This record gives sequence, structure tokens and C-alpha cells, in this order.
Amino acid sequence: MVDIKNSLRVELGDRGYPILIGTGLLDAPRLFDDAIASRQVMVVSNETVAPLYMRRLLRALTAFDVRQAILPDGEVYKTLDMLNRIYTALLENRFDRGCTLLALGGGVIGDMTGFAAATYQRGVGFVQVPTTLLSQVDSSVGGKTGVNHPLGKNMIGAFYQPSGVLIDVETLSTLPDRELSAGLAEIIKYGLIDDASFFDWLDANMEALRRRDTEALVHAIQRSCADKARVVAADEREAGQRALLNLGHTFGHAIETGMGYGTWLHGEAVGAGMCLAAAMSERMGLLDRASLERIVALIARAGLPTAPPPEIDAKRFRSLMAVDKKVRDGKPRLVLLRGIGDAFLTSMFDDDALASVLGLPSA
Ligand code: NAD
Ligand code: GLY
Repeated sequence: MVDIKNSLRVELGDRGYPILIGTGLLDAPRLFDDAIASRQVMVVSNETVAPLYMRRLLRALTAFDVRQAILPDGEVYKTLDMLNRIYTALLENRFDRGCTLLALGGGVIGDMTGFAAATYQRGVGFVQVPTTLLSQVDSSVGGKTGVNHPLGKNMIGAFYQPSGVLIDVETLSTLPDRELSAGLAEIIKYGLIDDASFFDWLDANMEALRRRDTEALVHAIQRSCADKARVVAADEREAGQRALLNLGHTFGHAIETGMGYGTWLHGEAVGAGMCLAAAMSERMGLLDRASLERIVALIARAGLPTAPPPEIDAKRFRSLMAVDKKVRDGKPRLVLLRGIGDAFLTSMFDDDALASVLGLPSA
């Protein structure tokens, strides 16, 4: 049964778009008719998600001329080569400038499909149907698209907003536990940045979320999307405030790149990264000890790592952190915390505090 439990809007003037959250949405042709303004639709998915959800989606898309591009699964395939496969499928099927690309999958598929949509014939339609918790609360909203480079995470990309985001919470029933935890990292992030009451709610409801209680999931997804939509509407191109959404990510991207893409999940790296950012804030006298302990405890209860991998030594960690989109004039900038719900961006951080929180022998 189709049940839209929540809807909100990313307010970006004539590029604004709806986010619909509910159950049974994959079975609602009307929603897709509203979101897609073309006849030609290329559904981009991967070898894991397509067997689970493609058939249902195709039933909802009978009004369109639909083709599929099915990619291999994994962060390691978030590459220019895979992007080229999408372009090839579009060209082989004579897709024109009026077509729409629909991303069915997690953040990897969403980011790649969005970049393909931004660049194919200089920009075509784009709709997100995210199927992981992480993509439902973060990557499908806000228009950051792109691929990895072997030397740095998400280093090639574009800002390109979708025309709609359809979140069917029922797809989370097939998600592995480890992936669910990865999504919880980005949810905790919103509480830490500027939503202390959401952090309190997460503290009280973490076990319900890990049990996949539908009402708890819908609430967490709605609140996360609302927090993100507000930031994106205020600072779409990350001139300032949007950088706060990268709390834990400078550390996290260093872990992902350093360990090899896919070894640590993005959300796991962000979980450990947020602990490092909080620990550094505490060492610098910005954050009190009790708040640090509360943050680390909640991240652990979400099933996430709270420390970086010992395989990356401190010197290498620092050099990996230098390949970051927040670097300006060669100077890294970090998101730190003055409290739960009070994040800020700064280049004025204490190198000793950084070395000590990495907790690794100096190389
Ligand atoms: P993912 O896309 O790799 O998906 C995780 C795994 O779950 C994959 O194996 C996938 O095939 C599988 N899967 C997806 N949906 C499923 C389902 N319903 N049931 C069973 N299995 C399912 O990873 P992710 O965590 O969704 O996204 C991580 C990516 O998102 C990273 O590349 C990260 O850089 C990016 N990201 C982008 C933004 C942004 O703003 N654009 C924000 C955060 C993260
Ligand atoms: N995930 C960070 C952002 O969208 O800005």
C-alpha cells in the first residue's frame, strides 16, 4: 500500500524539488509521472539492487520508454570508467537531451548517475530513488555528484540537483546491518552540527533505529532531510555553512582513501572521523569531557567504529587529510565542535591536538 508519511521541499527557487518519504512508493506510478518530465528514462542501478527492486520500479514506469544501465557494485567502481558505461548506454539507445536518468541504489549509484545527468549533452533530467539509509538521509539530497580518483575521494564532480527524491523506507528491509549503521553515522552528524534536540532524540531511540522500527526510521529520515535541505537552501555551493555537513569527513575521507575504497564503508569512516573531530575539540578546550563521552558512546551504540584504523600511521594520515576539498591556499580546514549541536569550520587548529588524537605512533 502506498503511504506517503512525510514530504518536504528543498527550496532552491525554480530548481527546488520535493522529497517524498513513505512506504510502498516504488509501486506508485503517479509519483514517478509527477517527478519525470520526459519520455526516455534510463534507470541506473547495480548488480545487488537491481534484482531486488528493478521489477517493481519498471511496473511503475510503464508510461515511459525505459532502458537500464546495471553497474558492478561497490565504492571501488565509483570511477570515470563506470561513468563512461552510463554514457555508452545512453548513446547506444539514442537518448536525447530531453531524457531523464533515474538512480536506483545507494550513494555510489546516486553520485555517479547525478554526474552523468549533469554532463550528458550538457545536462538532462535526474531523479533519485535512494535505497540505503545513508543515501536517504544525505547523498540523494543537495546535488553533490561525482566520482572518486585513486588519489582522492569525490575529487571529480559537479553540483547538480535532482528534480525529485522518492524515499521508500521499505527498501531498508533488505539492507545489511553494517550498511544500516553506516547511514546512522550521517544521521548523528545532523544532531552534532546544529540540532541538539535531534541528538537527544537519537540518544533515546538508537535501539529502535537499529531494530528498523518504521516510525523511528521515518522520523530520523525526515529530520535529517529537513536539516540538510535547510543548509543546502542557504548555501547550495558550499561558500560557507554547507561545509559543516562535512563534520568528520576530512578524517573519514583520509581513512577511505588510505585503506582503499570500500574497505571501510563511508559511514564507518565518518563515524570514526566524528569521534576524532570531537576528541580534538576536547583537547583544544572547546568541548567538555561529558559531551565527548556522550558522542563516542552514541556512535558506538550505532554499531560504528570510534577510532581510526591502526594501519594508517600519523604522517600518512596527515598527508591524506591534505587532499580535501576544504583545503584553501594549501591550508586544511576542519569542522570542530563547541558543543553538541554547535559545529564550526576553522583553519586555526592545534597540530599537537591533531597528532595526539590520531593516537598513532609518529612515523
Ligand atoms: P553504496 O551505494 O555502496 O551502498 C551500500 C551497499 O548496499 C552496496 O553494496 C549496495 O549495492 C547495497 N544496497 C543498496 N541498497 C540496498 C538495499 N535496499 N538492500 C540491500 N542492499 C542494498 O553506499 P552508500 O552508503 O549508500 O553511499 C556511500 C557513497 O555515498 C559514498 O561514495 C559517499 O562518498 C557518497 N556520499 C555522497 C554524498 C553526497 O552529498 N552526494 C553524501 C554522503 C555520501
Ligand atoms: N554530504 C555533504 C554535503 O552534501 O554537503
